[in-house]
Amino acid sequence: MANNLQILILAAGKGTRMNSDLPKVLHKVIGIPMIDHVIGKASLLRPKSITIMVNKNLIFLKKKYLKLKFLIQEPQLGTAHAVQIFQKQNKDKNSKLLVLYADNPLVNIDDLKKIKKELNKNDVVILGFEEMNNSSYGIIVEKKGSVDEIVEFKDATKEQRKGQTCNSGIVALSSRSLNLVSKIKNNNIKKEYYLTDIVKLSKKYNYKIKLVTAADSKTALGINDMSELGTAEQIMQNQLRKKALKQGVRMIDPDTVYLSKDTTFGKNVTIEPFVVIGPKVKIGTGSIVRSFSHIEGAIIKNNVVVGPYARIRPGTILENGSKVGNFVEVKNSKINKNSKINHLSYIGDTNMGESVNIGAGTITCNYDGVKKYKTTIKSKSFIGSNTSLIAPVVIGKSSIVGAGSVITKNVEDNSLALTRPEQKKIKLKKRKK
Ligand code: UD1
Ligand code: CA
Repeated sequence: MANNLQILILAAGKGTRMNSDLPKVLHKVIGIPMIDHVIGKASLLRPKSITIMVNKNLIFLKKKYLKLKFLIQEPQLGTAHAVQIFQKQNKDKNSKLLVLYADNPLVNIDDLKKIKKELNKNDVVILGFEEMNNSSYGIIVEKKGSVDEIVEFKDATKEQRKGQTCNSGIVALSSRSLNLVSKIKNNNIKKEYYLTDIVKLSKKYNYKIKLVTAADSKTALGINDMSELGTAEQIMQNQLRKKALKQGVRMIDPDTVYLSKDTTFGKNVTIEPFVVIGPKVKIGTGSIVRSFSHIEGAIIKNNVVVGPYARIRPGTILENGSKVGNFVEVKNSKINKNSKINHLSYIGDTNMGESVNIGAGTITCNYDGVKKYKTTIKSKSFIGSNTSLIAPVVIGKSSIVGAGSVITKNVEDNSLALTRPEQKKIKLKKRKK
């Protein structure tokens, strides 16, 4: 099937209502920027092209999304103005256009597919949704069962505001409707070019207009401020939790577990309450993450126990049967099979062999204030409690480091290293009271 659908994602707005220095569309939901959610769903429709409309402060995004086209809208005179800019450079006069908003990360792919299908028979397809609570979305006004116009909430009459269908903002246009966008004027209170005016205009030419209603109103949420960003996070977290539970992950209190879009689980995994899992985490079969643990960028293999109160940072691999216990931080380290770091330690930039036992309070001193250095701890060695391993340093196979040592030199295989000063015995004189 020939595909002449182009997609335009609007992201040029200033996002003032966010009150944040970070551009709105780069704020993350379930671990990835909201614009990435929209791009991801747009790609699933296999369009001929995807164009992102940005303001001059966001053009740097071009370097990240090399396969997409970018256009600059400066100044931002409204959603129709953005489409006019697109249309001016659009060489393909037969193409249809689907307009998405970068601040609408929840958009439902099934709704988009429906819109795409309806566009074969209609000139304007709009996505509406049933009123949530007292929103300020644009209102889709219907007369005699067909769409008459879309009015912005501010411009709507009391009558129009009551019980009407809301506008998600998403709209698809046939090539002839797309050519009408250039005729949209800005004669409204805000002096903005409203894309929603395409409805009235298309009606004038007797073009066919179709309203598609979102299967789930929540997916139409447009994010304009931090409160809506919080709502989107909540909705998407719930989706991730449901998916994980369905897959057989045991969560004692799912509402307190935070996941990322790319978190993966093996079979028989248990996640205890109050766990945060950031991006790029894989958790293998039979593993348990105990309460109050924080994990990012780590591969946790099978039958591993993490926490309670563990922090696992990027670049970490915990091999089968390993254990990372309470108040332990592991960064950029490989912990091989059956090794245990059970209490109060920092292990960074370390390659640890199999069946190693790390005593409480062991610290790999990997940083001298300028550079980072590596620590190697070979299989079956035993590091006594409260040891400092000053990297770069290698601890040999099956060796023992005595508690309280400060290790600055390599330790050979099968040997004991000890830097502990000898204990003195000094007899006390009888003291006067
Ligand atoms: C818009 C709709 C409203 C709908 C709501 C849904 C219009 C006129 N109004 O209002 O009917 O209910 O979305 O969320 O379309 N943008 C540009 N260039 C501009 C202006 C905006 O690229 O000149 C982008 C923004 O970055 C944003 C999107 O378009 O991603 C929507 O703009 P926004 O200002 O958030 O529109 P709303 O007031 O939410
Ligand atoms: Ca919006």
